This record gives sequence, structure tokens and C-alpha cells, in this order.
Amino acid sequence: MDRILIRGGRVLSGSIPISGAKNAALPLMAAGLLSDGPLTLTNAPDLADVATMAGLLAHHGLDVSRDTSQRSITISGAATDLEAPYDLVRKMRASVLVLGPLLARHGRARVSLPGGCAIGTRPVDLHLKALEQMGAEIEITAGYIEARAPQGLKGARIIFPQVSVGATENILMAAALARGQSEIVNAAREPEITDLAACLMRMGARIEGIGTDRLLVEGVASLSAATHPIIADRIEAGTFACAAAITGGSLLLQGARLDHLGAVTRTLREAGVDVAEEEGGLRVTRSNGLRGADVMTEPFPGFATDMQAQFMALMCVAEGASMITETIFENRFMHVPELSRMGARINFHGASAIVRGVKHLSGAPVMATDLRASVSLILAGLAAEGETIVNRVYHLDRGYERVEAKLAAVGADIERLAGR
Ligand code: UD1
Repeated sequence: MDRILIRGGRVLSGSIPISGAKNAALPLMAAGLLSDGPLTLTNAPDLADVATMAGLLAHHGLDVSRDTSQRSITISGAATDLEAPYDLVRKMRASVLVLGPLLARHGRARVSLPGGCAIGTRPVDLHLKALEQMGAEIEITAGYIEARAPQGLKGARIIFPQVSVGATENILMAAALARGQSEIVNAAREPEITDLAACLMRMGARIEGIGTDRLLVEGVASLSAATHPIIADRIEAGTFACAAAITGGSLLLQGARLDHLGAVTRTLREAGVDVAEEEGGLRVTRSNGLRGADVMTEPFPGFATDMQAQFMALMCVAEGASMITETIFENRFMHVPELSRMGARINFHGASAIVRGVKHLSGAPVMATDLRASVSLILAGLAAEGETIVNRVYHLDRGYERVEAKLAAVGADIERLAGR
């Protein structure tokens, strides 16, 4: 298995192109099930999760062609197999996003339950309850969600008791082809949802309230072909912002958008990091000392849970203390013991961690069991004295495109060691 070797202490400077967003690409690809297409997605990232979703769509019988040099994916055809098997769903939870589209278009779907994952139990009850409100009959048998809507789905007023990105996406796609009007109350407002809604509109869907927590959807009989550019990845941008900050450097994040970073910008500024819009992207610079800043993760526009581990790495070398509270996922502090092995001073209890900044981290062999935790160890390695080796790199490859090449190009001493 590949590993990443970092020799810390380099100050980063230059510009990094931000790739298309993984979490926008996955639901957009699932939207390919809603019409015969073709649906062409441009600015597509070349990531393991995108390949997994392409494999799932191909399994359903769709034609999926990826042109990695053009960074585009074209999806066409109609599903002939309505089952999403355990082996594919287990690899990637976002596979459950095929449920709403399959049910809306074909009146039937059989999708494996995703089961547990490294960052908590992550149920799909909100997805299922909302589809039932839209007229679906759902049973769980042998680990599979068996869903039927023999008369087709009908519009409904869905009030989510809790904000869920995936459930909002699944229901938005289902409502686009349902009979009549749907209202989604307490909808997630993440930029990836706005991007999905914009693509669905291009395909002929009728949606109001885009960007708010109340979406109104007037179902249409069919959707058509479209071409849609995927937004830049705000989490990748936030991660490289932390890389500039932790090394005391300055990076231009090409294509990144301030309005997509939400509370991450405010928190970085509170910690002493400059974040400014510049032509073509965002400039992130740290010229003075880092200060401890508190964080509580929240749905957008609050501080993204997907940025929590990276910000914690930054706080490990700040002056003073920082309290970090995770409210979205249970069990999302797996990076803490690994950061501690590098000399960080962190105590955590339940959903909160106190980080007391230290002057220096020291390099060590480390590993993590999820995507964002792994990249937080790379950030720590950039600032640490000596060598850090990050094991289990496949987590990184699920969500970061050539992370070591992008960091090396702006001055990091980092390389991938091929697995034996
Ligand atoms: C998406 C993102 C993930 C991000 C998360 C929160 C994708 C592919 N993944 O995941 O990177 O960390 O949003 O911003 O876009 N919940 C339920 N029942 C449900 C659904 C969710 O209880 O039916 C809970 C979850 O366990 C969690 C919370 O709601 O505690 C939020 O989860 P959700 O927003 O659904 O996350 P995902 O869509 O899985």
C-alpha cells in the first residue's frame, strides 16, 4: 500500500489549482439516472470515489464515459438493473444517492444499507421516511432497502427534523420527477446542494428557494440532456488554506470561493490567518503568529465537519488553547491519538477536544482511518520537525487529487512511496 513521506519545515508559496468538488460530483452523477441524457459534467475530479460512482452507474446499465484529460464525465441511457449491491455501497456511503433517482424514474429500487463507517453509525432513516411520505413502500430485508412506488412518487411536504446533506439531495432528485409539488423544509444549504439544484434546472427541473433551507419543487414528467460544470472543492480549498497557515506561507487557491467557505474563513482569521479574494481565487497568507480559536462544527454556513481535523492540526501549533466541538458526527476524533504521537497536546471527552498549542511537532509514522483525518496528518507533517510517514494513503485518494504533487509544486518536501 502506498505511503506518503513528508519532511517538515518548508514554507509554502505559489498557487494551487483547486479541483472539482467530490461531494458535488457524486450526487450530480447520481442525477444522471433521472434522464436518458446525455448528462455531461465538466471540471470533474479524478478520484477513487468518482470511479466508484461511475462503476455503480455502469452496474445499473448506464453508459458512463470519463475523459480524464478533459476532466469530463458523460452519462447516458436508462437503468436496466435497479439494484445497488452491498459490495459497491459498502465502499462508499454516497452510493445511497441512487435510491431517490431510481425510485422516481423506475418506481422500484433495491439498495444495500450502507452500514457503519469509521466516523459513526450514519443512518439513512431521514432518506427513507421522506420517500415514504412521497408514496414509496419501503421494507428492509437481508440488509437491503427494498423500495417500491408502483403508482410513481407524488409530491409531499417534507420537514426534516435534522439537517442532512444526503437526504436533501436524494429527496430533491426524487421530487424533480414526482407528480405535483414538493416542499422540503429544513433542507441542507451546502454549496453542493445548490450545485445539484442548478444542474437539475439545466435538465429541466422546476425548483425554487435554491440556496435556502426551504426548497419548492414542481415535479416534471421527464428531464433531458444537459452540460454542467462542477463547483470547486471547498474542502480541498480549506485544507490547502490550513497548509499555507501551518507553514507560515502564502498560497493562491485557484478557483476557490469565499462564499463557499462559510465559517471557516472567519475562524481562520480569528486564528491570525489572512484570507482575501484575489483575481482567480483566494489568497491565504500567514505572516504573524497563530492564535488558538474555538470551533463548533455545524451545517453550512457553519464550520464544516469535513474541515474539523485539518483545523485541529493547525491549532496544535497555535499559541494558547482551542476548544473544538464536533456536533455532526460521533466518533470523529480518530486523528487525535495520531496527532498526539507527533507531540500535540490534546484532551478530548465526548464531542469536545481541547488543544493546547505546542512550539513544535515532531515527525512520526502515523495512519488514519478516514479521509479528512489522513489529510490532517499531512498538514501536521508539513509543520513538524523531521520525517512523517502517513500510512493507508487510499483514504486520501478517495477525496484528494494528487495531494502530494500539488503540495510539492508549492515547495513542500513530500513524496509518495509506492507500496510493496
Ligand atoms: C455529507 C458529505 C460528508 C459530510 C456530511 C456533513 C457527501 C458525499 N458527504 O455526508 O462529507 O461530512 O455531509 O456535512 O456529500 N443522519 C441521520 N439520518 C439520516 C441521514 C443523516 O441521522 O437519514 C445524521 C448523520 O448520522 C449525521 C448527520 O445526520 O450525524 C448529518 O449527516 P448528512 O448531512 O446526511 O451527511 P452525509 O450526507 O452522509
